[in-house]
Amino acid sequence: MTVSTESALAVDAVAGLWQNPPTLPTKWLYDERGSRLFDEITRVPEYYPTRRETEILAARSGDIASVTDAAMMVELGSGTSTKTRMLLSAFAEHALAAGHRFTYVPVDVSTEILESSSATLALDYPGIDVTPVVADFTGPDLSLPQTGGPRIAVFLGGTIGNFDDDQRAVFLRRLAGALSPGDYFLLGADLIKDTGRLVAAYNDKAGVTADFNRNMIEVLRTGLAADGLYADDFDHIARWNPARHRIEMWLRARRDIDVWFGALQRDWKLAAGTEIRTEISTKFDLGVLGAELAAAGLDVVTTWTDDAGDFSLTLSRR
Ligand code: SAH
Ligand code: AVI
Repeated sequence: MTVSTESALAVDAVAGLWQNPPTLPTKWLYDERGSRLFDEITRVPEYYPTRRETEILAARSGDIASVTDAAMMVELGSGTSTKTRMLLSAFAEHALAAGHRFTYVPVDVSTEILESSSATLALDYPGIDVTPVVADFTGPDLSLPQTGGPRIAVFLGGTIGNFDDDQRAVFLRRLAGALSPGDYFLLGADLIKDTGRLVAAYNDKAGVTADFNRNMIEVLRTGLAADGLYADDFDHIARWNPARHRIEMWLRARRDIDVWFGALQRDWKLAAGTEIRTEISTKFDLGVLGAELAAAGLDVVTTWTDDAGDFSLTLSRR
C-alpha cells in the first residue's frame, strides 16, 4: 500500500468503523488479493452476472461501436478488462475502417491489476492506445480525458449497484457533467430476480465470496497496523434486503474483538455478533434505471438484456 492509500484508508476507517452499524467503503475490498478473488468469483457457478453481461456484449459490441463511432472509451472500475475485450475488438475494427485511432482509458483503484491488465491489452491490441489511470471514481473531481471525436464512458459488471441510492444519483450527475453533449454512457446493471438465485450468487459453495469479503479484514490489519485482527474471527454474511432490493454483505464478529490500530492510535472494540457492512449490491428495475439516467441528463438510446432477462446493458447519450 502506498502512503496516500494508507492515509485514505485511515480517513475512511475513522469515519466508518465507529458508526452503528460499522461500515467501510466497498473499494477497500479491492487490494491485489481482493481483485484476484473477485476475478475468481466471476467464474463460480452461482455468480451469473459476468456470464450474462458477456452474452450481451458478445451480441452487441459491433452495434455499440458503429452507433457511437467513439474515438475514446473510458472504463470506470475496469478490473481485469476481460469482458471489455469484446468492445475493444469491435472499436478497433471500426476505427481501422473509419481511418482514426482509438484510445482506451481503464480507470481503477486497484493499481496492480490495472497495470498488469493494461500492459497485456497494449500488446494484444497494437492498434489501440491504452492509457490507464489510477483513480477513485467516487471522487468529486471526476473528469474524463479529451479527444478529437465522441467518447464513450462504460461502467460494467453491475458496479453501479455498489452505490447506495444517494451516492448513485450524485455519481450519475457527476458523470453526465464530465461528458460533453453527444458523448455516450454504457451501463451494465443487474436486474431484480428470484431471491434464491440472488442469495446463492453471493454465497457460493466454494466460499470464494466469503474469502473476498473477509479480505477486507486483511486490508485493515495490514493497512492500519492492527495486530491481533484476524479474518477468521469473522463470518461472511450475504442477505437480501427486500425493502431496498439489494444484497448486503456483512462481516459478523465470531468473538469479542479488541484491537489496537497502530496507524490510528485508537482501540476498536466489537462485541461478538456485531456486524460490519462491507458492500451493498442493488438490483434494478429497468424503468427506474432509465428514469435515473434521464434525471442525470442522459437519454436512453437502447437497452439490451440477455436471453434470460437477468442483466441489462443500457446505452445512453448526453
Ligand atoms: N468491470 C469489471 C470489474 C468489476 S469489480 C467487471 O465487470 O468484471 C469492481 C471494480 O471496480 C474493481 O476492479 C475495483 O477495484 C473497482 N473499484 C471499486 N471501487 C472503486 C472506486 N471507488 N474507484 C475506482 N475503482 C473502483
Ligand atoms: C463489482 N460488483 C458489481 C460485484 C457485485 O456483484 O456487487 C462485487 C461482488 N461482491 C460479491 N460478489 C461480487
